[in-house]
Amino acid sequence: MKLIICGKGGSGKSTITALLARQYARERKRVVVVDTDVSNVGLHRILGMDPPPDLIGYFGGKTKMMEFMRGSRRGDVPADTPALGTWTYDTIPKEFSSVQDGVQLVSVGKINEATEGCKCSMSALARQFILGLSPAENDRVIIDTEAGIEHFGRGFDTLCNAILMVIDPSYESQCLVGKISGMADSIDVPLYFILNKTDEATSAALRDTIPDTARIIGEFTLDPVLIEAGLMGQAVPSGYPAAAAVLERLAARVEGTCPAG
Ligand SMILES: Nc1ncnc2c1ncn2[C@@H]1O[C@H](COP(=O)(O)OP(=O)(O)OP(=O)(O)O)[C@@H](O)[C@H]1O
Ligand SMILES: [Mg+2]
Repeated sequence: MKLIICGKGGSGKSTITALLARQYARERKRVVVVDTDVSNVGLHRILGMDPPPDLIGYFGGKTKMMEFMRGSRRGDVPADTPALGTWTYDTIPKEFSSVQDGVQLVSVGKINEATEGCKCSMSALARQFILGLSPAENDRVIIDTEAGIEHFGRGFDTLCNAILMVIDPSYESQCLVGKISGMADSIDVPLYFILNKTDEATSAALRDTIPDTARIIGEFTLDPVLIEAGLMGQAVPSGYPAAAAVLERLAARVEGTCPAG
């Protein structure tokens, strides 16, 4: 099963990615976390790991990747062909991932230089890598995205079994709900909402603004433990009741519908 986590900037996508990944691992699933954010660099810390080298290095770097993609287009390779190969938890190149307690982190690449150019090569790699990932039945894939909706345009979401949108108590998140709902429906991928950083009042206010509350699959309240983990760059807890509740609901709603994993 492949899950993609999205939402507005700072809503808590990476934190919830880490909480769900560690919870899955605690429940004896093997998890591949794919970091597709080319700017933020802290996901490994909240997963309690060392940073993996950029996966794009495995494929020869940005220039080689662009050449490869152009070549694929010239050769008219259909968009649903995994042109870079297929991958399982066991075959992901170990020197380009970090592994800890059943969670394997892969990072497509980061922008490191002021004038290094656009991120298209890294987005192309991200799409190819997500396409080529073939999780076994007991394995899970969680894709952490950059803020906003570019991942839809890049075609990541169509490759996933479910989209999890993180909604924090903000006007921007409320606006994004409508946009993301429309996009998810147009590609026919199930969309679920996770409320985050709420308290009693903001939870109620948010619920009032969400048109389809049946899509709410979980809620993470504003938690000093998570603030501390984010501040210090420390691992989030591996047994977290709100994360366990989300996974239970996902199992009921999505897992039975996946052909594998
Ligand atoms: N439920 C929560 N309670 C308290 N703090 C939280 C909670 N969820 C996330 N945070 C904090 O909010 C901040 C932003 O979280 P995070 O980096 O996960 O967001 P993001 O959506 O991935 O951001 P970006 O768009 O920059 O990638 C972090 O400092 C994190 O520790
Ligand atoms: Mg993030």
